[in-house]
Parts: sequence; structure tokens; C-alpha cells
Amino acid sequence: MRLQGKVAIITGAASGIGLASAELFAAEGAHVVAVDRDAAALKGVGERGYAADVTDWAVTEQTVADVLAHYGKIDVLMTSAGVSLGGDTLTTTFANWDRVFAVNVKGTYLWIRAVVPAMLKRGAGSIVTVASQLAFSGAPGNTAYVASKGAIVSMTRSIAVEFAKAGIRVNALVPGATETPLMNRSADRQPDPQAARATRRARHAMGRFGAAIESAYGALYLASDESSFTTGAELKVDGGWIAA
Ligand SMILES: NC(=O)c1ccc[n+]([C@@H]2O[C@H](COP(=O)([O-])OP(=O)(O)OC[C@H]3O[C@@H](n4cnc5c(N)ncnc54)[C@H](O)[C@@H]3O)[C@@H](O)[C@H]2O)c1
Repeated sequence: MRLQGKVAIITGAASGIGLASAELFAAEGAHVVAVDRDAAALKGVGERGYAADVTDWAVTEQTVADVLAHYGKIDVLMTSAGVSLGGDTLTTTFANWDRVFAVNVKGTYLWIRAVVPAMLKRGAGSIVTVASQLAFSGAPGNTAYVASKGAIVSMTRSIAVEFAKAGIRVNALVPGATETPLMNRSADRQPDPQAARATRRARHAMGRFGAAIESAYGALYLASDESSFTTGAELKVDGGWIAA
């Protein structure tokens, strides 16, 4: 059991990469606390579930306080909640720009901010943020999303350095295009979804999409003590997208 007895909060745990990670972490012995705005989909995921919007600081603080009251510690935070709304540089609405940055960037920052004090007290903790291959390679048609993922990489490195000597590790998981509702919605926004899927699939050196469980295994490594000398890093689980 690679996470035996660890308390792990996962945001965006009701679907896709967050859900696969919640199931894998639980199978590896973790007490999984699942957070998602989709209350219905959250049912049955993890030991405790909190229906919450990750952009709400009051709810974030309250949830973390509740988890600490129940378990007395937080070992792991994984911030998988994210949205991709599409739109190129000239068509992105300001509302969509703000929403993407609120969920992806602020939603990552708030949860890190909320758990760090408890991790500092124990001198231990592992935080796994979720970026994207697009943060490194760039891509047209999703300007706000790609920029938000770049921000997550920079934030991850900065916070990692800030707390490196305090025993808190912070690393970014970097998935390639992965079969999840988010990716399917993104393809469905294109004029020819089938063609868009084929182009994206072929863009990976491995010529296929990832499965959510493949990213979850990367997250498991970063969450566990096996990655004890790894901080401020990006773990690419991208089928060779960035290398190609
Ligand atoms: N699927 C991919 O191809 C891919 C590639 C690279 C990175 N990612 C990243 O992986 C992460 C997970 O994506 P996924 O593909 O599993 O998507 P998904 O849509 O399957 O799951 C995302 C979950 O986040 C939740 N969520 C969204 N906004 C929220 C909010 N404001 N508050 C609380 N919960 C919220 C959703 O309800 C959903 O359950 C995201 O950060 C995404 O950007 C995905």
C-alpha cells in the first residue's frame, strides 16, 4: 500500500483524472476526501465528499477545517478541478477568460493556501497540481486554458521552492490528451469533432490518447513518499506529445 493511512484531498474528484486518482489512492490505503462542484457525481467517491466550488475561499477554508477536525492531518492535496472552455485569442469572451483563470489558477492556489498551514505544523506534505502538455507546447484555439496551465506550472515551481525546506513538496502532473468528459467536450466544440479527435490522437508520439488511470499512476508517485526527492518538478504523462 503506497499511501497507507495518508489523508488525501482531491479536488475535481467526481470525474476523469481526479476520479481515477481518488479510486487509485483509496486502493493504495489513503483516506480520500473528494471535492467537486458536481454533488451528484461525487456520491460514493472517497471516504468523505464535499460539494464545493474550488473558487470559493470561505468554503475551502471550512472544508479544510472540517477535514482536520475529522482526521487531524492532511498528507496530500491533489488539485484536479479544471475547466477548458475553448476560444482563440480573438474569440475568447472575457467571462470565459475569467472563469478559466478562477477555476484553474485561483482554484489551485486557494486549496494550496488552505492546506499549507496544517502541513507546515507537521513538517510534511505532498501537493500535486494538474497542468497540461499544452503549457509546454502551446496550441491554438484555447488561449485562456493554455495560459492558465502555464500559470499552474510557474506557481507550482514557486510554491515548491518556498516550502522545500519545510518538508512540503509541490509538483505538477502534466497529462497529454486523456479520455475524459473534459477532452470529449473540447473535441465536440470543433466543427468536425471526429477529425479533431483524430488530429489530436496523432499528435502524440504514441499515436493514442491517454487513459485517466495512466495519469492517476503519475499522481500516485508524486503523492507518495516514493518521490521524496522530487519537488518543483513536472511529471509528463503525455504519450510523448511534448517530445514529438
Ligand atoms: N483530459 C485531458 O485531456 C487533460 C489534459 C491535460 C490536463 N488535464 C487537466 O486535468 C484536470 C482534470 O481534467 P479531466 O480531463 O479529468 O476533466 P473532467 O471534466 O473529467 O473532470 C474535472 C472535474 O472538475 C470539476 N470541476 C470543474 N470546475 C470546478 C469547480 N469550479 N469547483 C469544483 N469542481 C470543479 C468537474 O465537476 C469535474 O468533476 C484538469 O485540470 C484538466 O485541465 C486534462
